[in-house]
Amino acid sequence: MEASFSICSVAQRLLKSPAMEEKPDITKAVRQHAQIDEFFTGGFAVRGEDKAAGELEKLADEVRQCRGCPLGSVRTNAVPGEGNPNARIMFVGEAPGADEDAQGRPFVGRAGQLLDKVIAACGLKRSDIFIGNILKCRPPENRDPRPDEIISCLPYLQRQIEIIDPEVIVALGAHAARTLLDTNKSIGQLRGQFHEYYAGLGRPPIKLMATYHTAYLLRNYSPDNRRKVWEDMKKVLAELNLPIPKQAAH
Ligand code: URA
Repeated sequence: MEASFSICSVAQRLLKSPAMEEKPDITKAVRQHAQIDEFFTGGFAVRGEDKAAGELEKLADEVRQCRGCPLGSVRTNAVPGEGNPNARIMFVGEAPGADEDAQGRPFVGRAGQLLDKVIAACGLKRSDIFIGNILKCRPPENRDPRPDEIISCLPYLQRQIEIIDPEVIVALGAHAARTLLDTNKSIGQLRGQFHEYYAGLGRPPIKLMATYHTAYLLRNYSPDNRRKVWEDMKKVLAELNLPIPKQAAH
């Protein structure tokens, strides 16, 4: 079935539905339609989480073998990313630091501990979400990712996003936000509003919220910066119809 036909017919049905007359959510409708299509065209023997988990693990093995850029020969461990294969929210950081390089796991150092607090403040657990990075290997001395490294590594993240198909991506910091949105705007300009990430032809765009990286928050801790991150996360929770925890609602 042609994507354009599907989108059109779903949109028409929504527009005719009296219950949805006020504000049809085309993106949600297209996503549901694609899921129904997939169900009726097979692939339901190994479905959902199991299938995604297997694909993510295969991809993680590829990342661990990767020598696609010079970082592959200076790392201790590659850090493919981890979390729920069926996550509704995917966090994307910049690149592993020293702790992540040592353990092969994302966001396990100080910035990771602060990210854990942000996740907990949202009423979520690490096992609810998926955490990945633009680069899968640590740049020496935590320098900024280089364009050639991003070009070489980005397909891994793009494939993770395709497999997980989250409803919202939270881009942590300028490198993640600029890379995923293909823009040079500053994080100050990008944060606070939803953008669209295009995962491929025929796929509905995924909502992307950019916010400050927790490493930036650690370096520039202020009630104002902290409030901004919380404002951004409240928008993410509202978008997903998730409750906003009271103790954190400040
Ligand atoms: N900072 C990142 O961007 N990613 C990590 O995994 C850890 C720190």
